[in-house]
Amino acid sequence: MKVLVYSAKNFEVPYLEKANRRKHKLSFIKESLSSDSVMKAIGYDAISIFSADEACYITLEKLKDFGVKYITLRSVGYDNVNLSAASRLHIKVANVPDYSPYSVAEHATGLLLALNRKLIESNHRVKHYNFDLNNLIGFDLNNKTVGIIGAGKIGGVMTKIMHGFGCNLLGYDIKEDMNLKEQFGMQYTTLKELCKLSDVISLHVPLTTDTHQLINEDLISEMKEGVIIINTARGNVINTEHVIDGLKQGKIGALGIDVFENEKGIFFKDHSHEIINDDLLLKLNTMPNVIITGHHAFLTEEALTNIAETTFYNLDCWNAGKETENELTEIIEAI
Ligand code: NAI
Repeated sequence: MKVLVYSAKNFEVPYLEKANRRKHKLSFIKESLSSDSVMKAIGYDAISIFSADEACYITLEKLKDFGVKYITLRSVGYDNVNLSAASRLHIKVANVPDYSPYSVAEHATGLLLALNRKLIESNHRVKHYNFDLNNLIGFDLNNKTVGIIGAGKIGGVMTKIMHGFGCNLLGYDIKEDMNLKEQFGMQYTTLKELCKLSDVISLHVPLTTDTHQLINEDLISEMKEGVIIINTARGNVINTEHVIDGLKQGKIGALGIDVFENEKGIFFKDHSHEIINDDLLLKLNTMPNVIITGHHAFLTEEALTNIAETTFYNLDCWNAGKETENELTEIIEAI
């Protein structure tokens, strides 16, 4: 197959080329998929996209006209693809459902530890040979309550890690996982109760119409004073403006995010010589109790290897006229 890889980043190209084993004819472009860049897909059988690419109805219609039959996502999340439109247009879409839940859960833990123990501020001081300890006090995680919103694959690993720290685990999910209850004492509860009781809240739900702006002023008002919120799921799972208000009022003690509601067009590029045209990001960046990473929770060798392997597994299946169990259009059709 002729495959166009959108949003190709230098670091992932070697992993993709290795996993391809010279089977498919690959072209890489740095541009993300949009209604403007879709023209580049003319002459290709398949495209590969990432989370910053936008496969809306208009773009999908154009892909169909150009003869593109397959879209393989190099991500778990697929909120950026209009799946029902793809299904109607007979474009097959598949994702990489579980490339490494460890990569994201470990990153979420890193954000939590860095915030709680003020590691960035401490390191800044040491770089200037300032060994003053004032304002670096954190708290023991042992015996604290951690609320996991979305206890699926990543939330499950986060539960295991937090259990290792001696935390009490609360979970909110549309379905309960017996293993998490039995092995780590996870107690499922309502969203409101989780917010009331948690010292730390970590978000691991997919972005859907139900989870869009799930963390808003109403829920924040229920939270414990000084709660730490970690979001490695999707930016739009929280209402950033409400969270900024919570931070200003001291209701939220700290915020660690790897995803941001306006990240499209900003993340994955170097803007260091520009003034960023996003007031929410500018506000967040001024706060000492906020750590932002640029959607790189997935960035481990194991995850990149698995993403590349599954991407070509999906393409190989389609090339051989077979189904892949990672197909998303099939899920939608079955609902
Ligand atoms: P998963 O499907 O294994 O887990 C998601 C969990 O959320 C499931 O248990 C599901 O039942 C639950 N859920 C779904 N809708 C819900 C709702 N309305 N209310 C409560 N619970 C709900 O997915 P996984 O692999 O754990 O990934 C979670 C999300 O993490 C992805 O959808 C993606 O957006 C994000 N992600 C972020 C990455 C990053 O680099 N920052 C990398 C990979 C994933």
